[in-house]
Amino acid sequence: MNEHVSLPVAGEDAAKRQNSRKVFIKTYGCQMNVYDSGRMSDALAGEGYVPTEEMGEADLILLNTCHIREKAAEKVYSALGRLRDMKNERAADGKELMIGVAGCVAQAEGEEILRRAPAVDMVIGPQTYHRLPEALKRARDGQRVVDTEYAVEDKFEHLPATDKARIRARGVTAFLTVQEGCDKFCTFCVVPYTRGAEVSRPFSQIVDEAQRLVDGGVREITLLGQNVNAWRSVGPDGREWSLGNLLYRLAEIPGLARLRYTTSHPRDMDDGLIEAHRDLRALMPYLHLPVQAGSDRILKAMNRRHTAAEYLRLIERIRKARPDIAMSGDFIVGFPGETDADFEDTLRIVEEVNYAQAFSFKYSTRPGTPGAELSDQVPEEIKAERLERLQALLLKQQAAFAKSCVGKVIDLLLEKPGRMPGQLIGRSPWLQSVNVDAKASQIGDIIKVRITGTGPNSLFAEPAEGLIGA
Ligand code: 5AD
Ligand code: SF4
Repeated sequence: MNEHVSLPVAGEDAAKRQNSRKVFIKTYGCQMNVYDSGRMSDALAGEGYVPTEEMGEADLILLNTCHIREKAAEKVYSALGRLRDMKNERAADGKELMIGVAGCVAQAEGEEILRRAPAVDMVIGPQTYHRLPEALKRARDGQRVVDTEYAVEDKFEHLPATDKARIRARGVTAFLTVQEGCDKFCTFCVVPYTRGAEVSRPFSQIVDEAQRLVDGGVREITLLGQNVNAWRSVGPDGREWSLGNLLYRLAEIPGLARLRYTTSHPRDMDDGLIEAHRDLRALMPYLHLPVQAGSDRILKAMNRRHTAAEYLRLIERIRKARPDIAMSGDFIVGFPGETDADFEDTLRIVEEVNYAQAFSFKYSTRPGTPGAELSDQVPEEIKAERLERLQALLLKQQAAFAKSCVGKVIDLLLEKPGRMPGQLIGRSPWLQSVNVDAKASQIGDIIKVRITGTGPNSLFAEPAEGLIGA
């Protein structure tokens, strides 16, 4: 999953209930953490907490942390150092400030957090945050709480449904976690250890949640999972359904205009899912399908369990099913043992695929993963040099893709106010941000626009209603 953190969980019912307690949630990392922060906020609503965007006015501060790459834990500890000072200042004024650590660093570090960060009241793992109200009560009674067991019960069964007002406040696009955890054990990755084994949410739970989101005004849903295309559940016909089946069903919800899903593993792209890309207009033509590296030797060492040629063939099949699909990916440079020749293979696969969007990282050793045990670690300068070359190529492709959109008439989902008055920002089918002149009352509409130009991180467009070809 990638790191676009934006969803405000705060400010939702801010003005409401002046006297209630306030919670500030800081979200690090991937979209699933954004989703989890929203659900934690829902869980705390029952305890009388309203979200705030001002850390200074919060009675409870939660850090929802990420452990995917280097220094994640250190960053959390330094943030906790600053919070300790804040807590002490409050205490001097006779006021309370509770501090909780949630997410993947909480899972990985557990008790260690209490030891190193005396200001912390609660440590809550990603599978136990439905027990947050209980943890809070215990913390209030003076206990320091660590709850990072992989709970036997399904947290989603125990969380309150997000109410309509909150759904509305969160906007016209929403995330919906359908699957969590990972059984793939890529040798560089901590996810199987922090999020645990692959678990799929049941079909009916997902359909109910999607319906509730749509009833609350959501037009686009992104299904989330660390390995989203490994989702499996018993369908309404009593058979085992996979993600493709689920997408067909969700596409039937009236008012739900757009569907996306992330992140996928190439090994789990089955025929049904590829057919869904062919058949469903609601399924947006954008696919994040990480390959990580282009050398078969490195792919094997990473335990990706496919070759570069298999990945390319898969993309060919997907493009045949949906020719306008935009590809996105993740890359790691400098995995232990990566030679110049291996790295050239990564550049080659990038050239062959031609990505519309991509995320690339220097390999970082994660404690407890098999990659950390490998002896032939790549020196930092070489990693930096390779990353620079790879990113230059990916940026060139991204810019070329954006340019190729200029002049096209496309559907734009209007999402939020733009930077200039009278402007809104919308999303193209290919997940690009697009600026257009439109009224605030149009948020949630899908309009035809003509792309007129490109900026550094977004596109510009004019309304195209009535234009030839619109
Ligand atoms: N070092 C560098 N990048 C990593 N990723 C995951 N683990 C590591 C690591 N140890 C990257 C992968 C993954 C993305 C979410 O983060 O590219 O797809
Ligand atoms: Fe990590 Fe690999 Fe699982 Fe993705 S598929 S979460 S990279 S172990």
